[in-house]
Amino acid sequence: MNLPIPELWEIHPMLVHFPIALLLTGVVMEFLSRKRPTLTIPAAGLLVTGVVFGWLSAAAGLLSFYTVPAHTKQAHVLMWWHLGFAVLTLLLFTWIAVKRWKARQVSARHLLLLASLCGAALLVVTGYLGGMIVYHGGAGIQPDLLSPEIRTGHHHGDSGQEATSGKQSGNDHERARGEGQHEH
Ligand code: HEM
Repeated sequence: MNLPIPELWEIHPMLVHFPIALLLTGVVMEFLSRKRPTLTIPAAGLLVTGVVFGWLSAAAGLLSFYTVPAHTKQAHVLMWWHLGFAVLTLLLFTWIAVKRWKARQVSARHLLLLASLCGAALLVVTGYLGGMIVYHGGAGIQPDLLSPEIRTGHHHGDSGQEATSGKQSGNDHERARGEGQHEH
């Protein structure tokens, strides 16, 4: 049996669920731990693990950014917003996780609880933008399944084959900027 080997742009969608689930659960646990002090350490553990998976996902996101095949111009713009929100979210959660791990024996103070609510909101927006890139912009979809307008709207090689292969380079990404349809 031939198992399909994932393309580089397929790694990011495999990982993103982990930081979303870990960090959001961590934030909920932080609030619960105010009533149940035994939850402070698990809550801090979830935040730390979520941050580690968050940065791994971000690294995979950058790989996607440079390798993802055909997509719309709108998706291309949204990728920059997605990148910005992701970095902001992770920087905030990294700060929260470090603080919480150091003081994991006691429940979080109001400032950190407020910060973790902001982080959760930023994380939801990041995930929403990621979904928009895929489901409204065609990025991360096997190119053969896309409409010809998106698939062949813009070429960065000698043949249409390259445009549909999903293995275009970062330089192609640079040249794609400003065109009606984008391919990496
Ligand atoms: C906290 C970090 C991040 C989270 C939680 C996140 C979340 C997501 C989600 C939920 C999707 C939609 C996946 C799907 O439904 O198939 C997505 C797609 C995508 N994200 Fe992110 N993302 C993060 C960081 C990044 C970064 C730093 C980049 C770099 C630009 C990036 C680039 C992309 C791209 C190109 C896609 C299109 C699908 C693909 O990867 O093949 N992401 N992201």
